[in-house]
This record gives sequence, structure tokens and C-alpha cells, in this order.
Amino acid sequence: MKVLLIGATGNLGLRLVAALLTHNHSITAFVRSSAKLSSLLPASIYSHLEVIQGVATDSASIKKAILDSNCDAVVNTAGLAALPPWGRSDLPAIFRAVVEAVREAGVERERPLRAWFLAGLGVLYFPGSEKMLSDYVPIYLEHRQNLQLLKSLPQDSVDWSMLCPSTMTPESSDVTVPTKTSQGKLVANAATPPAWQDSWIKHIPLIGKTILCAMNAGRYETTLEQNAEFIASDLESLESRWSGTTVGVIDGSK
Ligand SMILES: NC(=O)c1ccc[n+]([C@@H]2O[C@H](COP(=O)([O-])OP(=O)(O)OC[C@H]3O[C@@H](n4cnc5c(N)ncnc54)[C@H](OP(=O)(O)O)[C@@H]3O)[C@@H](O)[C@H]2O)c1
Ligand SMILES: *[C@@H]1O[C@H](CO)[C@@H](O)[C@H](O)[C@H]1NC(C)=O
Repeated sequence: MKVLLIGATGNLGLRLVAALLTHNHSITAFVRSSAKLSSLLPASIYSHLEVIQGVATDSASIKKAILDSNCDAVVNTAGLAALPPWGRSDLPAIFRAVVEAVREAGVERERPLRAWFLAGLGVLYFPGSEKMLSDYVPIYLEHRQNLQLLKSLPQDSVDWSMLCPSTMTPESSDVTVPTKTSQGKLVANAATPPAWQDSWIKHIPLIGKTILCAMNAGRYETTLEQNAEFIASDLESLESRWSGTTVGVIDGSK
């Protein structure tokens, strides 16, 4: 598939370059600085990319990149959510611009695009409740407004999925194609975290669910390479079981 990768210079973006190429996708990388991207990748990998310079808050140039490169899918890893509840980052503005570009490009080519977005564990639902984990642990709240935006889109205008990992750590700083990962595939679940460990503790008034979230949180640590592999592998087909949903992931071997 032809994929527009926005934010290729980031932690996850670089691993996505490797994973997408390993899965035989062609990549158009949309980055602020092509010089930075070329400094972060081996020349043999960089030479396989089409690179477009632009700012991720500029919806018109993202749309142009999608249409000019004839992309079927977009992966956005640009922008990093602020941690504290009062924190502000560029992410919501980037997110709005990308969503708008993907939607408009879909209208123009008369076929919605497939798109993967990133959020965090906090936008998944607390299993068995109508509340999100971030109602109990209020961090990285910007992801919530981003999800709201996706859910408010007209039906069939963007074929989106939102990956919601907890902390992602690097396995290696080397970018190689094909990728060499020592970790297994992720186990995924729509809307709630997979393999959640329940406990009576959640019934403690006021703080029980927060304590249970904290007890579970560490179990959802995954690697950047595993998440990149997950997205690259999903994009092998235009039909995805993760269409229109948030996706929680866990390392199956944990
Ligand atoms: N890392 C984690 O553990 C973790 C866990 C859960 C969720 N997430 C989410 O996953 C996503 C990717 O995380 P990451 O660790 O890969 O982030 P990162 O390393 O900070 O990468 C962020 C990327 O965004 C780009 N960017 C920032 N502002 C931009 C702008 N105005 N225009 C164009 N590009 C811009 C950066 O480009 P430059 O190189 O040009 O600065 C960089 O490529 C984020 O949304 C994050 O919130 C991360
Ligand atoms: C990618 O293409 C190569 C060469 O055609 C093939 O050997 C390999 O199995 C393909 N990889 C995937 C993940 O489809």
C-alpha cells in the first residue's frame, strides 16, 4: 500500500519506516526537515522514501501530499501529548489538520482513506464501565479531544483506527530492513485493554478504580518496534478489523 507517514523523525515514526518497508509498503514521509530524517536513517533506507517537507498543522499541504503521492493510507505519529492535565502541546492542532486533510482527500478521490492515529491507554474504557481509564488517572488528556473529533466525523468519511499504547520503549536504536525484533506480536483488543486484571480493590470507594489502573499500568508497556509492526501488518489489507475503534495492546508474552 502507498502510505503517507507523518512524523517519520520521531521515536515511533522511525520504527514505522522500517516496519512499513519490511511489509513492502511504499512510503511518502511528511516531515519538517528532510535533512533531519536523512541523518537518522541509513542511506540505503532513506533512498527508498519519497520525502515531502511540510508542517503537520498545515492541512492543505498534507492533503496535497496525499493526493500527489496517490496514498491509500495515512499514519500520523506527529505531535507528542502533554503529560499533566493542564499541559498543552501541538498535538491537537496537528491532529485536527491531519484529520481534515484525510477527510478532504477522501472526498476528492471519492474513496475514504485508511488512517492510523496514536493516542494512549487513557482513552480506553475501564473494563465493565462507561468511563475511560483517564477518568481515574487524568494524564495525557489531549488524546480525549482527538478521539472526540474522530467520533464526530460523518460515517464513511475517514476509515480511522486509534492505537492506544501505554509507555513504548525502544528495543534498538538501529533502523534495519527487514526489521529484527526479539519481541513477539502484540495482542490487541477494541475499546478496552486486552487481558485486564480485575480485582476486588476497584470497589474501594473513590480510589479503588484508580488503584486498579495503577496496578495494571505496568503490564501494558510495549516496545516501539512492536507497535510499528502492528500498524504495518494491519495495513497489508484495506479491510481492517480495527476500523472505527480505539485499540488497546499488550505484549502477549507478559
Ligand atoms: N512514546 C511513548 O511512550 C508513547 C506512549 C503512548 C502514546 N504515545 C503517542 O505516540 C505518538 C508518537 O510518540 P513518539 O514517542 O514517537 O513521539 P516523538 O518521538 O516526540 O515524535 C514526535 C514527532 O512529531 C513531530 N512533530 C512535532 N511537532 C510537529 C509539527 N508542528 N509539525 C510537524 N511535525 C511535528 C516531530 O518532528 P520533528 O523531528 O521535526 O520535531 C516528531 O517526528 C505521540 O502522539 C505520543 O503522544 C507515545
Ligand atoms: C515482501 O516482498 C518480498 C519480495 O517480493 C517477499 O519475499 C516478502 O515475503 C514480502 N514481505 C511481506 C511481509 O509480504
